[in-house]
Amino acid sequence: ALISLRQLLDHAAEHSYGVPAFNVNNLEQMRAIMEAADQTNSPVIVQASAGARKYAGAPFLRHLILAAIEEWPHIPVVMHQDHGTSPDVCQRSIQLGFSSVMMDGSLGVDGKTPKDYDYNVGVTRDVVKLAHACGVSVEGEIGCLGSLETGLAGEEDGVGAEGVLDHSQLLTTVDEAARFVADTNVDALAIAIGTSHGAYKFTRPPTGDILAIDRIKEIHAKIPNTHLVMHGSSSVPQEWLKIINEHGGDIKETYGVPVEQIVEAIKYGVRKVNIDTDLRLASTGAMRRFMAEHPSEFDPRKFFGETVKAMRDVCIARYQEFGTAGHA
Ligand code: G3H
Ligand code: 13P
Ligand code: NA
Ligand code: ZN
Repeated sequence: ALISLRQLLDHAAEHSYGVPAFNVNNLEQMRAIMEAADQTNSPVIVQASAGARKYAGAPFLRHLILAAIEEWPHIPVVMHQDHGTSPDVCQRSIQLGFSSVMMDGSLGVDGKTPKDYDYNVGVTRDVVKLAHACGVSVEGEIGCLGSLETGLAGEEDGVGAEGVLDHSQLLTTVDEAARFVADTNVDALAIAIGTSHGAYKFTRPPTGDILAIDRIKEIHAKIPNTHLVMHGSSSVPQEWLKIINEHGGDIKETYGVPVEQIVEAIKYGVRKVNIDTDLRLASTGAMRRFMAEHPSEFDPRKFFGETVKAMRDVCIARYQEFGTAGHA
């Protein structure tokens, strides 16, 4: 059944678990996520980005998610729009039937340029008004996402769009989080606590203090009814990097957020954990390996079937590790 983000995360808070929010772009990801949820009896958050809409088209994404709800009617599913860059984008998603939208007013409509507090509050407040009138939840973002090690916002090539940021710019403060929630009434809030998007988060194996756990605790204590969201939460599995590089790939040394650190963050108030890169890596590794080992195969279902299995195993692991399993 389709449920809102508020409904799911209220339940998660009551029972102290976290929920991975997986990005979806194609049929294989959708099936992997749902098969994993079915096997572990987990509630689901699937999110569609601007890139996903460009790739698959909004109607296809919408019907992929609706098809999943039809095939697995016993699994609660949140249909979430990831990183909306304007109120117009969010309005369109609400109209399409999404049960949750993210208005990311920390960045401009180009999705890159940092914007000031007043702009962020203005656009987010508009979306909350519209969404809540339709029973749709809203996620906002305050702060500038970036790796505490490299100071980079994170991109596919490992070079940040906004240059290197210092420590204080990379952490959301308690006061700005509390003020933003009071000003906008968002249901969920993405905070900057040391993660960045993409595969290139850390150049060395991260140590225990790579996430600002104390900051999570302080923010959660101040705004307990607003569910905290952690973007850039892929763990970048070393085994998948190895498989990719052993079968013709060329990905340089890089590290993600250790699962134990995410589990710690969940313990102190993080409820929604955004993961895209890990499924991309598993998918690429599975396809490269299968093609290298079966050079005469030309039925694409064989390649794509391998990606479903690989992504499904990552999803199963996250549902179990985050405590989501058993709560569908
Ligand atoms: O937040 C970014 C997500 O990883 C989605 O990226 O726009 O390339 O699909 P995308
Ligand atoms: P990763 O790049 O770490 O998977 O983060 C995805 C994300 O935050 C999507 O909004
Ligand atoms: Na999101
Ligand atoms: Zn994100």
